[in-house]
Amino acid sequence: MTWSLASATGTARGKAILAGEHAVVHGVSALGLALPLLVTAHARPRPGPVAIAARGAGFFAAVGDGSSGGLALEALLDALGLPLEGAFAEVSSELPFGSGLGSSAALAAAVARACSTLAGREPGFDALFAGVQASEQIFHGNPSGLDALLALRGGLVRFTREAGAEALSAAPPPLVIAHSGTPGDTGVAVKRFAARLAGGDEGRRRLAAIAGLVEDAARCLIAGDLEGLGAAMDGNHGHLAWFQVSTPALDELCRIARGAGALGAKLTGGGLGGCAVALVRPGAAERVARAVSAAGFQVVLP
Ligand code: MEV
Repeated sequence: MTWSLASATGTARGKAILAGEHAVVHGVSALGLALPLLVTAHARPRPGPVAIAARGAGFFAAVGDGSSGGLALEALLDALGLPLEGAFAEVSSELPFGSGLGSSAALAAAVARACSTLAGREPGFDALFAGVQASEQIFHGNPSGLDALLALRGGLVRFTREAGAEALSAAPPPLVIAHSGTPGDTGVAVKRFAARLAGGDEGRRRLAAIAGLVEDAARCLIAGDLEGLGAAMDGNHGHLAWFQVSTPALDELCRIARGAGALGAKLTGGGLGGCAVALVRPGAAERVARAVSAAGFQVVLP
């Protein structure tokens, strides 16, 4: 099989998790939504192993280069039945990488779409999902599938590993997303959360508490009860901190957002760096964004 077109483009979305990250890896529900921030891949035939480069991020990976990016790319192409030779994809991203906003899944999804089109293929959702999951597996061992789902399909969903996604009939809540200043590490965080969970009753009790907060958050979101949703997010952040996947900078970012009027704030995604998400009253995003920015944190959205 060869590449059949001269060039092709694929896009995919980043995401934020409102409640339930990490717990979702262990079978609990999570609430997540796709963000209006895209990763775009432009693919074209080029001799040599398939390679990708992310403009501006200093990221390069090629099949066979021994890097985790190269292994993830190979796993993605293999899962989609695409050749490992003869193409190059240039990636640009509106998402900061390593930020808890689903950049690795969105990058894999954009490359999967671009390379599939370049090969004259039109894989369905299940094949693309399997490809992105194969890539995510390399990066963090035990991906729940939430990031892959939101990268490919978008929307506002409640997700479990077992049942997949249920679309929530609610408007996306008003959010401020800001970066804590250091990159996250989802692979390390997923292992740390699992180790704390395996450590005894307290971890299991807190996992059950997170499950309850996710249900509260979903109910409040559907009912338009932003105060209730904010309280669930605050509670969830406290449990994530107990599981040691927060950082002092993420805690501080959440504290500043709450102090500026946010109804709730928590780390989002893997943690150990990356972003926090703050829920705000309609019209209050600017005040919260200004406060976190004045404290030296970079606002990613809005
Ligand atoms: C990462 O964005 C979310 C985690 O729950 C991992 C996963 O769901 O695969 C930490």
